[in-house]
Amino acid sequence: MKRDRSDQLFKRALKAVPGGIYGHVAPAAGLPRHFPHFCDRAQGCGFTDVDGNEWLDFMCGFGSILHGYNHPEIEEAVARQREKGSVFNQPAEIMVDLAEALLERIEFADWAVFAKNGSDLTTWAIRVARESTKRPLIVKAKGAYHGVDAWCDPGLGGRIPEDRSSVLEFEWNDLEALSSLFSRNEGRIAAVILTPYHHAAFAPSELPAPGFWKGVEDLCRRHGSLLVLDDVRCGGRLSEGGSHRYFGFVPDLSVYSKALGNGYAISACVGREDFRKPSMDVFLTGSCWNDALAMTAALKSLELSGRGKVADAVLEKGNRLCTGLEQAASQAGQSLRMTGPASMPYPSFEDDESLFKIQKFCRLCAEEGIYFHPHHNWFLGNAHDDESINRAIGVAEKAMDRMSDEVS
Ligand SMILES: Cc1ncc(COP(=O)(O)O)c(C=O)c1O
Repeated sequence: MKRDRSDQLFKRALKAVPGGIYGHVAPAAGLPRHFPHFCDRAQGCGFTDVDGNEWLDFMCGFGSILHGYNHPEIEEAVARQREKGSVFNQPAEIMVDLAEALLERIEFADWAVFAKNGSDLTTWAIRVARESTKRPLIVKAKGAYHGVDAWCDPGLGGRIPEDRSSVLEFEWNDLEALSSLFSRNEGRIAAVILTPYHHAAFAPSELPAPGFWKGVEDLCRRHGSLLVLDDVRCGGRLSEGGSHRYFGFVPDLSVYSKALGNGYAISACVGREDFRKPSMDVFLTGSCWNDALAMTAALKSLELSGRGKVADAVLEKGNRLCTGLEQAASQAGQSLRMTGPASMPYPSFEDDESLFKIQKFCRLCAEEGIYFHPHHNWFLGNAHDDESINRAIGVAEKAMDRMSDEVS
């Protein structure tokens, strides 16, 4: 696989951009070298890197693409809006249309606001909880990612102890630990913020244990704290009406981003009537937040999701892929486990604490143009079809055989 242009660009980037590429797609931090550093274009469930290599993609822009890259109906709607403009002094009519569309789909929601990134609104949502309860403390699950702000980011740089002094943590699924946090901090917890299931990087995903969500809901209601759902990663992929529907509970505030705009930068927070007033008292704005193009993409995306029952369809595609990969592994004498919902599966081998095995598997598949990530959950989208899933399984079978041959 060619990578001259990718490497040249990375060298240039190292001079012009600190670290060349930052965040979770930095080669040093998360993404092994066998992946290209730069993409050129994308269509459906595939993309072309800057060296012209074609990839069959199972990351969907780290979840931001639900209906396939460059979806014609979304792009057409955006092009129509582009003729009128994108960012104005005031919001465009589309903001009201989009807010109403979300409220129609998310049964507990009475209002919606918009920003650009998940982090913008997870941080804002906990401030709404603090404003509403006049309490300082926030509870989150250990290892959960809620964004880049100092109260929750996984890095250490630029932080002071005070950034975390009002954030308490408990182990996912440990209701007793959560209950004890409430008892020890009676009247001081503003909110519990959780993802719909636990999808930490570098570790298998954990689904909610039976009764977990009911227990969290009860504790929040009993102690007068808000239940904030961080649905940034899963929203729209597990259920058209929000992931609380998929797992059967009701939050007070819910934050969406990733799949909402099918690749256009937009996030939303929705909430119950009780929190409308505090939501108006926590300042909310951003330079390009009233972006009519992203709002148009989001509205069209929601329409497509409802029309095609996309979340169910994508789950079914994920089931086919996960079953196929697990079978390919067991036929080759390997033990691969795909954890989490099948449309966002996290892959891991047994006895692979170093992660070398999963890295090797993903590298062998990458040699054949399949983009599987070794330490982050994957994302299926509606552009994946039987052909792409069968091709991925075929490549995985060969990779598993090669791994077994090398071991023996
Ligand atoms: C669960 C979750 N919350 C929050 C965020 C932050 O979103 P953003 O990167 O758009 O700020 C992410 C991003 O990956 C996420 O997965």
